[in-house]
Amino acid sequence: MKALVLAGGKGTRLRPLTHTAAKQLIPIANRPILFYVMDQIAQLNMTEVGVVISPETGSAIRDALASNPWGCHFTFIPQDEPLGLAHAVKVGRDFLESDAFLMYLGDNLIGESLQDYVNEFERTKPDALILLKEVDNPRMFGVAEVDGSGRITRLTEKPDDPQSKLALVGTYLFSQEIHAAVDAIAPSARGELEITDAIQALLERGKTVQSSRLQSWWLDTGKKDDLLEANRLVLDGWVQRDLRGNVDSESRVEGRVVVEDGAQIIRSEIQGPAVIGKGTTLENVRVGPYTSIGSDCSITSTKLEHCVIMDGVRLEGVEQLKDSILGQHATVRRTTDQQQILRLMIGDDAEVCV
Ligand code: G1P
Repeated sequence: MKALVLAGGKGTRLRPLTHTAAKQLIPIANRPILFYVMDQIAQLNMTEVGVVISPETGSAIRDALASNPWGCHFTFIPQDEPLGLAHAVKVGRDFLESDAFLMYLGDNLIGESLQDYVNEFERTKPDALILLKEVDNPRMFGVAEVDGSGRITRLTEKPDDPQSKLALVGTYLFSQEIHAAVDAIAPSARGELEITDAIQALLERGKTVQSSRLQSWWLDTGKKDDLLEANRLVLDGWVQRDLRGNVDSESRVEGRVVVEDGAQIIRSEIQGPAVIGKGTTLENVRVGPYTSIGSDCSITSTKLEHCVIMDGVRLEGVEQLKDSILGQHATVRRTTDQQQILRLMIGDDAEVCV
């Protein structure tokens, strides 16, 4: 079975970060989201991986995957415009040939292995196996209506008036029948070929579409709050204590905290789960739980909690930063006497004085 990873798109809901970077490369616990996707795929022993990329961020995606610790064989597939998930299947057709495949959205994070679902797909051989998860805001997703016996009756992309709370998770298993279904659909109101419509077309053609309820958490990291939540869940579930940098005698590090090589922790307190990247210096800083700080940052006299701080950030004298995402090489410094709690989302290289 092959894997098709979607790593294109414009990431409009994560601007300004996505003005300069691919949304799939935004770090969660200091690793790009895409790496967690690849971990999952490698775990399933799928080695033939097609990666759909956009003209804007394709080379960054290629560079990020170049180290390839997963031992996969990557085929990069350009998608010139973000014309939808079903369009991505269309551009991937030469790579996919007549094989069954796993399609995985490169900005989706899932808290469990997909092995059981793949086994089920291989055992029962439907034309599609979709994963569903109950959500509070179904209007933001593809939505499945299911009858009393659990059979899917209808799929609708981002309905105004959702008839169910079951969202389609961004991982799908397909037989080659999906290609004819993709050819049969027209663009949606937002001008995209929707994979949800293609699966609905499978249903209408009498093909078998199965669904399973996802047991674990799932996040589509396309928005700020979801990204922070993904960071919290990943730190909570997967980080082990590992102190490799320098922690001076006046500092306290509690709980599951990673301090990477070359980091300097001076007169500071860190409460895990948290990660501090290599070469980063913290001086007189209190890091609260659920915070990821990238490499080569310089942070002084600041309190941080529930934040994603990317590489090369400088923070000086900011009283308190909460629920924030700071892009690479951003600077935030206090220039007045006013003390305040800040909640920020700022892009790469931004400079903010407070
Ligand atoms: C896409 C799909 C949607 C699905 C979601 C999962 O939405 O169109 O059906 O529920 O991914 O993350 P998009 O992220 O393109 O808005």
